Amino acid sequence: MYTPYYELQEPECRLYQADTVSADFIPEGSVDLIVTSPPYNVQVEYGAHEDDMSYDAYLEFCERWMRNCFRWLKRDGRFCLNVPLDKNRGGQQSVGADLTTLAKRIGFRYHATIIWNEGNISRRTAWGSWLSASAPYVIAPVELIIVLYKEQWKKCSGSGQSDITSEEFIEWTNGLWTFNGESKKKIGHPAPFPIELPKRCIKLFSFVGDIVLDPFAGSGTTLIAGMMYNRRVIGIEIDPNYCELAKQRIETYLNQRQYALDMPTEGDETLTAFCEEVLSVYEKYGINSHIKWERDKSS
Ligand SMILES: C[S@@+](CC[C@H](N)C(=O)[O-])C[C@H]1O[C@@H](n2cnc3c(N)ncnc32)[C@H](O)[C@@H]1O
Repeated sequence: MYTPYYELQEPECRLYQADTVSADFIPEGSVDLIVTSPPYNVQVEYGAHEDDMSYDAYLEFCERWMRNCFRWLKRDGRFCLNVPLDKNRGGQQSVGADLTTLAKRIGFRYHATIIWNEGNISRRTAWGSWLSASAPYVIAPVELIIVLYKEQWKKCSGSGQSDITSEEFIEWTNGLWTFNGESKKKIGHPAPFPIELPKRCIKLFSFVGDIVLDPFAGSGTTLIAGMMYNRRVIGIEIDPNYCELAKQRIETYLNQRQYALDMPTEGDETLTAFCEEVLSVYEKYGINSHIKWERDKSS
C-alpha cells in the first residue's frame, strides 16, 4: 500500500506525493470525477517537472497519464481537463484539439468544451510582425475545460444529491465562463488555477459524497474546493514542496472554517442566529457535515 503524504478521515482527503504516470495506488473504476490542469509544456519552472519537452514527447506524456485516469474512473465517471486552447511559445500548436483527439483515442467520450475567459490580456507581449501581414500572431486569451466521460454520461452511481443552486446551474451550463485567474505570488505556486474553476466543475458534474481526483494537485486547489462541498478528495502531486504547500492550504482552510463556525452559545444574538442559519443551510444540502458534528460536540 502506498502511504499518502497527507491524509484526513473527516473530511475525507488523501494527497499522494507521486508520479501520476506510474501511480498504481488508485483502485480501478473508483473515481467519480477528475478535475485537473496538467503542465502545459510552456516552460513553467516547476520543481520536479521539465515543462519544456518536444511536442511529441508532451503528447506521449499526456497519453500515459490520461490512460491511468481512464482506468481510475467509474463507468459513469467524468473528466474535466483544463488546458490552453493553443500554444505559441516554442511553435504554434493546437493543444486543446490534440488533447481532445488523444483522449478519444484512449477511449474517453466527448461531452462539451467550456471556454474559460480569464480576462487576462496583460500577458500579451508577442505580436509577431507588428502592423504587418507578413507573420502576425493571433492569441486568444482563453483556456478550455474539456468535459469528457468514460462510458455513459448519465450518472447512476453516488448519492444522487446535487448541491447546485438554480442560478449557478443556469449560469454554468452556458459554456462561456468568465472569472479571473489566480495569483501565483499569493498562492506560492507557478501555475495555480482559481478555486472557482474546480468549484464549478464539482458542483455541476458530481454528487455530494462523490470521489474527486486531481492527478496534478499542485497547491491543492481542487482538494479544497472538494472539501468545501463535501466531496471525498484525492490528489497526486510529484513535487514534495507543492505537497507541503497543498497540506498547509488545506489546514488553513479547515482552521478558518472551524473558526467561522464555532457556535457562540451566549452574547451576540444576531451572530448566533446567523450561525444557526448557516448550519441549517449546510444541513439542508448535506454539505460540510463534520461542522454540524463539531457543534453537536460542544453543545
Ligand atoms: C498546472 S499545475 C496544477 C496547479 C493546480 N491546479 C493548482 O491550483 O495549484 C501542474 C502540477 O503538476 C505537477 N506535476 C507535473 N508532472 C507531474 C507528474 N508526472 N505527476 C504528478 N504531478 C505532476 C507539477 O509539479 C504542478 O504542481
